[in-house]
Amino acid sequence: MNGLKLLATGRCLPKTAVSNEEMSRWVDTSDEWIASRTGIRQRYFCGEGETALTLAAGAARQALARSGIDPAGLGCVLCATVSPDYATPSLACLVQAELGLPEDIPVLDVNAACSGFLYAVAAARGFLAQSGRHYALVIGVEVLSRLMDMTDRSTCVLFGDGAGAAVFEAVPNAPFASLQGARGGKAILANGPGPLAPRLTMDGRAVFRFAVEAIPRCIDGILTQTHLTLNDIDWVVCHQANERILDHCIKKLHAPAEKFYKNMARYGNTSAASIPIALDEMNEQGLLKPGQTLLCVGFGGGLTWAAALFTL
Ligand code: UT7
Repeated sequence: MNGLKLLATGRCLPKTAVSNEEMSRWVDTSDEWIASRTGIRQRYFCGEGETALTLAAGAARQALARSGIDPAGLGCVLCATVSPDYATPSLACLVQAELGLPEDIPVLDVNAACSGFLYAVAAARGFLAQSGRHYALVIGVEVLSRLMDMTDRSTCVLFGDGAGAAVFEAVPNAPFASLQGARGGKAILANGPGPLAPRLTMDGRAVFRFAVEAIPRCIDGILTQTHLTLNDIDWVVCHQANERILDHCIKKLHAPAEKFYKNMARYGNTSAASIPIALDEMNEQGLLKPGQTLLCVGFGGGLTWAAALFTL
């Protein structure tokens, strides 16, 4: 099967950034508590007129424009999200209609929470192999503010809204590896938008323990599959849940910290959107260069985990 190369990225954030200072006016918290425990300084929350669709379509438009491909050549459209606007139509279908994307291709949402983007990348590769088409549009988008209990300080300070998108090309012999896994449980639990309460709950300590075990296991898994070492990897892009989790893993792996990109300070935890947002920020900063090898790792609700190695 062909490997996938990352061609282009895009991102779209709500207009309103909310600082830790502002959060401390809503719930009993402080910038000091949030920043020292998580590394988060601000997040974005959707306001009037901003939806999962407006964010996803914004990010997708940008990624497609930068890729230079004709959207008619897309082989699939996947949207990783746990907070779509509707149960049906899927968000991916709404994006297809909004952007006038092809009809004779798979268009679907993937729910694997914070691992969703990487699950979707692997699924996209399979869809392209099936059809022989060359390009995939993979979006990660969340409007977690609509699922959160804004009076629960143990969760509402952690998450944010946003979207990232990526266009991949199937290329013969391009290096590619992926893995996915799940351990069903309710350590992170969210009801859909609606009257049921509590809405989003999390056993933070259990998730922390899970994450610091899952990330090194994912990285080891990919390196074993590819017979590579971390020296061969240019960037490790993990789900941006918490800086302490990443620092813990870097130490455990004796890994070079400068290869691990971090941006949770600016966005909070945006679940399925965090990896593509990070990729787009890295692109914008000129950190991503042709020929580089990236290893991405997701972990979170489900519980799920996933990793993927691809090149630029
Ligand atoms: O995508 C995967 C997403 N999940 C994660 O990344 C979460 C992983 N877990 C964590 O990062 C940490 O467990 C948290 C940051 C969520 C919590 O940190 P912690 O050090 O495990 O705190 P805790 O939940 O054990 O709570 C410690 C104290 C409690 O007070 P008492 O009972 O000791 O008096 C909490 O009530 O901190 C209190 N607390 C807060 N204080 C100020 C909880 N939330 C807040 C808050 N501001 N926002």
